[in-house]
Amino acid sequence: MNKIIINGGKRLSGEIKIIGAKNAALPILFSTLLTDESTKITNVPSLTDIDVAVEFLNFIGKKTIKIDNIVNTFQSKNNYKYIAPYDLVKKMRASILVIGPLLARLKKAFVSFPGGCSIGDRPIDMHIDAFKKMGAEIFIKNGYIEAFANDGLKGANINLKIQSVGVTENILLSSVLADGVTVITNASCEPEVEDLINVLNSMGAKIIRQKTKKIVINGVKKLNGFNHRLIPDRIEAATYIIASAITKGEIFVKNVIPNHLRIILEKLKKSGLYIEETENVIHAKWTNNLCPQNIKTEVYPGFPTDVQAQWMVLMSLVDGESFIEENIFENRFMHVAELKRLGANIYINGKVVKINGVTKFSGAQVMMSDIRAGAALVLAGLAAEGKTIISRVYHLDRGYYMFEENLQRLGADIMRI
Ligand code: UD1
Repeated sequence: MNKIIINGGKRLSGEIKIIGAKNAALPILFSTLLTDESTKITNVPSLTDIDVAVEFLNFIGKKTIKIDNIVNTFQSKNNYKYIAPYDLVKKMRASILVIGPLLARLKKAFVSFPGGCSIGDRPIDMHIDAFKKMGAEIFIKNGYIEAFANDGLKGANINLKIQSVGVTENILLSSVLADGVTVITNASCEPEVEDLINVLNSMGAKIIRQKTKKIVINGVKKLNGFNHRLIPDRIEAATYIIASAITKGEIFVKNVIPNHLRIILEKLKKSGLYIEETENVIHAKWTNNLCPQNIKTEVYPGFPTDVQAQWMVLMSLVDGESFIEENIFENRFMHVAELKRLGANIYINGKVVKINGVTKFSGAQVMMSDIRAGAALVLAGLAAEGKTIISRVYHLDRGYYMFEENLQRLGADIMRI
């Protein structure tokens, strides 16, 4: 089993180029099933989640090749397999997004029921309800979601009880080819959802965001191929900015869309970090008057849950008391126990944690529980005195492209054994 070894205390400075967003890549990869024509996606990160999605497409019958940061899919006939087996789905929860395109094209999809994960139960009730509203019949049998739309999917009015990214995407991926008009209210506004809408519209779909949380989709009969460059990964960008801040460094984060990080940048500025932005570069510099800032995770444009763990590391090393409220996932504090091993002073009370800043961390052996918790532990190790040894590093490979290499270039003493 691989481990990451960090000799902490090095200042991280320099520049970093941000790659395309994993969470934009996944639904866009599945959107290729909606056309028989070839497609090209560029700026794709090399991550295990992307490899799983590519494996998935090939399994289903869409010839897909990834070379470096480009994914090509080739002309196909609509004779896909309609079964997504457990062995593939268990590797990546986002596999649930395959139901939308398969139902739209084959009128049938059997997808293994995704299990829970370390950040919570992660139900899929809203995905199922949405497909039912569009006329599908759904059965849960032998660990599979069996979905049928024998007469084809029909446009529907769907009001989401929670603004869910995945559900919004799955409705988009199915309703584009449905008969009639679909209206999603309380729809997600994350930039990754917007990127998917842009791709689908470039394929010939008719999608309009009428209001911030209202999307109207006029179903069409057929979609074309596309050529798309993914938007930059805002979570990766935020992670590097925080890595540099906790090591008293200075960083130029390039190839970003600063507006996608608006709330994070505002919070960082309020906590005393020097931040300057140009069109696609964020310059961040540590100052010696960092102060605590409370955050609440919320849907976009609120503070992203995917940066909560990294923010906790920053606040743990700032003098004073601060609070974090996690409002998206019910169990996303698995990193707290590990951060305490490094010397953090954190108390959990339901969905809120109270942090009392400490002057330093000291290296220890710790374990990753998910992608972002993993990144937070790496950040903590970078700031800690002495050696930190981190296990279960495969979590990191799902979400961070060339993480150790990038950190090394910024001056970190980090390696994988
Ligand atoms: C996506 C992101 C993930 C991010 C999350 C929230 C991808 C591949 N992953 O995950 O990195 O942390 O958005 O920004 O894009 N829910 C239900 N029923 C459902 C579906 C969701 O109750 O059927 C709940 C979830 O348990 C959660 C909330 O809705 O509490 C939001 O989850 P959702 O936006 O769906 O997250 P994902 O799309 O899975």
